[in-house]
Amino acid sequence: MRVTSTECVGAGCVLLRLRPEEGHLPECRPGQFAQLRVDGPGVFLRRPISIHDVEGDEISFLVQVVGEGTRWLADLKVGDRLNVVMPLGNGFSMPASEGRVLLVGGGVGVAPLLYQGKALKEQGIPFAFLLGARTKDLLLRLDAFRQLGDVYVTTEDGSEGERGFVTQHSQLSASDGRWTMIQTCGPTPMMRAVARYAQERGIPCEVSLENKMACGVGACLCCVQQTTEGHKCVCTDGPVFDAQMIIDN
Ligand SMILES: Cc1cc2nc3c(=O)[nH]c(=O)nc-3n(C[C@H](O)[C@H](O)[C@H](O)COP(=O)(O)OP(=O)(O)OC[C@H]3O[C@@H](n4cnc5c(N)ncnc54)[C@H](O)[C@@H]3O)c2cc1C
Ligand code: FES
Repeated sequence: MRVTSTECVGAGCVLLRLRPEEGHLPECRPGQFAQLRVDGPGVFLRRPISIHDVEGDEISFLVQVVGEGTRWLADLKVGDRLNVVMPLGNGFSMPASEGRVLLVGGGVGVAPLLYQGKALKEQGIPFAFLLGARTKDLLLRLDAFRQLGDVYVTTEDGSEGERGFVTQHSQLSASDGRWTMIQTCGPTPMMRAVARYAQERGIPCEVSLENKMACGVGACLCCVQQTTEGHKCVCTDGPVFDAQMIIDN
């Protein structure tokens, strides 16, 4: 693929947009991911990155720099070539149209939720985003989320939205019965708290796991997750799981 644009979006993150050099993008479902080949020194495994958005034949990834591989990706320039294997994994499910879906994200875990919000909107399924971060400066792409639907925000220091964790937001504490499905991606403690909230109220909940990966295609067992149904590969059986399969494991 060719890089068509790169944009720093704060919180050490870069928004990368790419197009196939030839032909069209394959069909991608929200929650699926790509394995991006990194050609930097000392980095020889591909890096798994969620599909953030798709517009026609252009795909975008939201990449947070945490090490050598993501640094290399963030340094790509317009016109550079990138070898991408995608789409991988299963993706979020599409709930029934009479439901109301809450998409809960934290940190760079908000990445796959934008595309899921877009898909829900296209299907006419009511939904809202609930996005959390430590502080205002770490909230990512709020404007893009707001263009799709209602966005509720929490920050731990109260610099934007309500103060506290996502599970303390008044949309959750004061709205029992309002949500018929919750889909979440973010730091493990956040997803665990969200999954518990959903479990206590009998709300179906899906979590998108970000276990470390090597091959991304089910061959190396590097990403295995213990579940109620035994060991599962996050790259091929996930990354999206029913929270009930994970919560007590
Ligand atoms: C299915 C999936 C989807 C992902 N989607 C995104 C995304 O949309 N945007 C994004 O920025 N990142 C995403 N990640 C995480 C991303 O793959 C890692 O941050 C990246 O591989 C780190 O590579 P690196 O070489 O920069 O850092 P490394 O040098 O490999 O590691 C640097 C630090 O990051 C930690 N780390 C590495 N991999 C992970 C991981 N998978 N989860 C948590 N910590 C990790 C390491 O323990 C180390 O502390 C996703 C991961 C998975 C499995
Ligand atoms: S990353 Fe190799 S099996 Fe999942």
